[in-house]
Amino acid sequence: MSLPVNRFVNRPILATIHTDAFRHNLGRIRELAPQSKIWSVIKAKAYGHSLEAAFQGLESTDGFALLDIADAQWLRDHDWAGRILLLEGIFSLAELEFAIKLHCDLVVHNEQQVSWLETFKNHSGNPVNIFLKLNSGMNRLGFRPEQYRTAFHRLHSAGYHLHHMTHFANADQVDGLPSVGEQMECFEKAIEGLQAPSSLANSAAILWHRNALGDWVRPGIMLYGVSPTGVHADIVRSELQAVMHLRSEIIDIQELKKGDHVGYGGCYEAPEDMRIGVIACGYADGYPRHAEDGTPVWVDAADAKGEGVICPTVGRVSMDMLTVDLREAPNAKVGATVELWGNEVPVDDVAQMSGTIGYELICALAQRVPVLIK
Ligand SMILES: Cc1ncc(COP(=O)(O)O)c(C=O)c1O
Repeated sequence: MSLPVNRFVNRPILATIHTDAFRHNLGRIRELAPQSKIWSVIKAKAYGHSLEAAFQGLESTDGFALLDIADAQWLRDHDWAGRILLLEGIFSLAELEFAIKLHCDLVVHNEQQVSWLETFKNHSGNPVNIFLKLNSGMNRLGFRPEQYRTAFHRLHSAGYHLHHMTHFANADQVDGLPSVGEQMECFEKAIEGLQAPSSLANSAAILWHRNALGDWVRPGIMLYGVSPTGVHADIVRSELQAVMHLRSEIIDIQELKKGDHVGYGGCYEAPEDMRIGVIACGYADGYPRHAEDGTPVWVDAADAKGEGVICPTVGRVSMDMLTVDLREAPNAKVGATVELWGNEVPVDDVAQMSGTIGYELICALAQRVPVLIK
């Protein structure tokens, strides 16, 4: 007998991916960048949300930007006829052939890729779109300004259709270096006189640097309703919606006596007699082991009035379970639904309590967690 995989089966944990939230967030990006086309960034299996869900929710995007050519293949196999951008281009000459067959646009960020493109004989008849990447100060990928023109002219002479591209290091920060202004200055100088469409902005630039968008924007994290800064208030202000809701249940309740210790290491000591709830979610599900005591978990119908209430974690997160303080949740029972992150608990808040960013948590959702696409 095969068990259904998309609903609670044995362990009551489930990540629900809300495709209507994807649609909403994409709509917000269109409002914020009405003159630009949108590359929806879906690398890392759509930041942990699954390609299937992203494809369903973001089908009205202008293109998908990703890293792994297998994901491009997946999109073509599912009849996506629109544009696909390989964000780090190709990693070998053999991959180039495959990428062209799949009609991918390519980022080109180094000399080796330029050489491969020069030697490659394109028999497909389709002009290949290149997004030539300038290192305008982030010092990760891209040509330095003094090398950029040569690369541009070489690819232009080889018959490619060129676009200018750069990536911001600090669009989410007020005083980070290099600033968006410095990177823009570098970019504008480097491309002077070289006519081509441009692609500049990530989520933070779309939200806060509307003068630095370009013809194609490249939103990632904001599509998922998560903040580029890690501050959830930015998501509220920007009217974005969480796409991934990670939920589970209370599977046991312990009645502690004052002075009892909880979990591995006994890190939490009960300050008084109290109830704690044991939740079926641990670090092997992608919940951060370093979440501090006090990380919020929402428990449904649990307060004195039967409303949902935020309960703080207590004790160390273990592989399959975590524990929460139920003192504010007198109605909490075994079987109560809890939300680890989503609508009631911003993933940004969980990340902050764990010394990381929402990007990492959503990308690290474990394979063993069933996903329901809604
Ligand atoms: C080149 C490039 N563009 C766009 C993005 C999307 O960034 P964000 O998720 O911050 O919007 C990324 C993600 O890291 C990226 O590497």
